[in-house]
Amino acid sequence: MVLKHPPMGWNTWNTFGEDINEKLIMDTADIMAESGLLEAGYEYLVIDDCWAERERDPATGKIVPDKKKFPNGMKFVSEYVHKKGLKFGMYSCAGVRTCANYPGSFDHEYLDAQTFAEYGCDYLKYDYCFKPDSIDGQVLYRRMGLALRSCGRDIVFSMCNWGKDDVWSWARSAGAHLYRSTGDISDNFSSFKEIAVSQMPKLGYSATGCWNDIDMLTCGMYGKGNVALGGCSDEEYAAQFALWCIFGVPLMLGSDLRSMNEATKRLVTNRELIQIDQDPDGRPPLCLPLDQDSQERFVVFKLLSDGEYALGFFNMSDKKRMLPLYFEKLGIPFASGYGLQLTDVFTGETLEVQRECMTPLIPAHECRVYRAKMVRVAG
Ligand code: GAL
Repeated sequence: MVLKHPPMGWNTWNTFGEDINEKLIMDTADIMAESGLLEAGYEYLVIDDCWAERERDPATGKIVPDKKKFPNGMKFVSEYVHKKGLKFGMYSCAGVRTCANYPGSFDHEYLDAQTFAEYGCDYLKYDYCFKPDSIDGQVLYRRMGLALRSCGRDIVFSMCNWGKDDVWSWARSAGAHLYRSTGDISDNFSSFKEIAVSQMPKLGYSATGCWNDIDMLTCGMYGKGNVALGGCSDEEYAAQFALWCIFGVPLMLGSDLRSMNEATKRLVTNRELIQIDQDPDGRPPLCLPLDQDSQERFVVFKLLSDGEYALGFFNMSDKKRMLPLYFEKLGIPFASGYGLQLTDVFTGETLEVQRECMTPLIPAHECRVYRAKMVRVAG
């Protein structure tokens, strides 16, 4: 199975942590299917950690769903999710216990892959806590990669080892479709800024079939929920979503969809940004820092299919700043005779053709993102 685009969906962890149950999943599935999210591309509904009983079934050795949270079992939930036209994702861990101390899949990889296939699972997030010291992490991810390939069902393998052990260099060969490259996001500006900046030198490893995963989005959490530490403004959420899209990484929503406001919905269903994220060429962007020793201001330029481009200016500093860009840094010197025609992805406004350079003035923590075409401006 080839994962042609970075996956889009929703995951329970950011808002709900341990507080998950069948009703939450079914209600969220309804909303995804009926509110335009599925139509916008959000197709995976993923149950993260804390879905199981604390111990395996002693008779079968299988992990079993928590009977209070999921009284009708997982197949029932997955069938409901599928009926809504969505795909169903679950979670386990390469170690002996999950990060929240539920049974992990260590030494049960093949049995568990089989169990996930029986549930009708389409996606498995696979974490890295409680790994025995005696064994190499890469070996354990390879094991689950092979177990999933042989379980008789197409299951997206979402490795989550937080970027340890140079994961970008072997994730693809281990069968992963995506690999988490960072620690956990918190719902505040400095957390997502740090995560994004940390991956700028490594985005070149991300490509069709196996994508760099920089964690679930916090857009729309406004400081509420499991990973909420402060919250963000709408402008900051816009910068977060735009970064994820221009980086071409998975778009997994993490807010409570039952109470999503209009501003969040408009942002996360922004068609232009989603197209930039899901571009069929799957090319990584060029990231150009504008300051010598910091990543406070940067430009991101991504080649899209059909000869188009995405151009983003990110002011991650705490002050309103100019972001001067000379197009020669993008490969378009003055002598080329070409300029850029830019359409703002948030407002739809088209600017006059820009040539040689431009210097947008951008408020603190905000961005400007354009869809661009190269146009001939001189003989
Ligand atoms: C972390 C992981 C989070 C979440 C959590 C569950 O290791 O990075 O995304 O899955 O475990 O316990």
